[in-house]
Amino acid sequence: MLAIIGGSGLTTLSNLDVSHREVVRTPFGEPSGALVFGQICGRPAVFLPRHGYGHSIPPHMVNYRANLWALHHHQVRGIISVASVGSIRADLNPGDIVVPDQIIDYTWGRKSTFFDGVGSPVTHVDFTDPYDAPLSQRIVEAAAALGIEIKQGAVYAATQGPRLETAAEINRLERDGADIVGMTGMPEAVLARELGLPYAAISVVANHGAGRGSSSHGIRFESLEHVLQEAMGRVRSIIERVVGCEAACPPMGMSV
Ligand code: HPA
Repeated sequence: MLAIIGGSGLTTLSNLDVSHREVVRTPFGEPSGALVFGQICGRPAVFLPRHGYGHSIPPHMVNYRANLWALHHHQVRGIISVASVGSIRADLNPGDIVVPDQIIDYTWGRKSTFFDGVGSPVTHVDFTDPYDAPLSQRIVEAAAALGIEIKQGAVYAATQGPRLETAAEINRLERDGADIVGMTGMPEAVLARELGLPYAAISVVANHGAGRGSSSHGIRFESLEHVLQEAMGRVRSIIERVVGCEAACPPMGMSV
């Protein structure tokens, strides 16, 4: 069973035919919400909205450990993380879908390991390649099969938020080699790695980074909402295909 963690713009998975919901208690506290189990074209899948059902949990307050532990507890085979990002690289525009292959972590103060309990062994996981290559490839192939354009290979800068960056910070991220910027990629990716869960990301460009493109006069998310919603429609189709649907799913009567 694949898990999908949805972010801003993907707070529900309307093509998931819901069978049940489960509130999972974890040694690390409460996940962002109940896990929603169901089927996409007859294949099992589970969905978790990263920011909670009312979109009320900001990026730095997400209980990433509880979220990942809960999915691991239900023996998911892999995780597709969907999140909106700002673009840094000039050829990435609002509405573009990106499958990143590297991360630079600028977050701080987040609980970013499972290995810090009393008596827990000091553990240094390998994180050379933070995203699972086979799962990322499945996403890319699914998009290609559907004729959906995807940009493959990008460096994701994980910033602390919840504020957006300054123009100078975006320039610095670019000098560091980052192509896109978001607030939730870490520690989600490393916690999945610590649990041995294949983890891949679909990043949807919502806006140009601060000081870039039309956002040189400030970023207003509301004006980009329709772009994000349209792009998330394409992301849903890609997810269907990755989960295993060969043809388009019939419309579902239920949504989560
Ligand atoms: N910066 C950080 N995170 C984001 C952005 C951004 O510009 N857009 C969407 N998530």
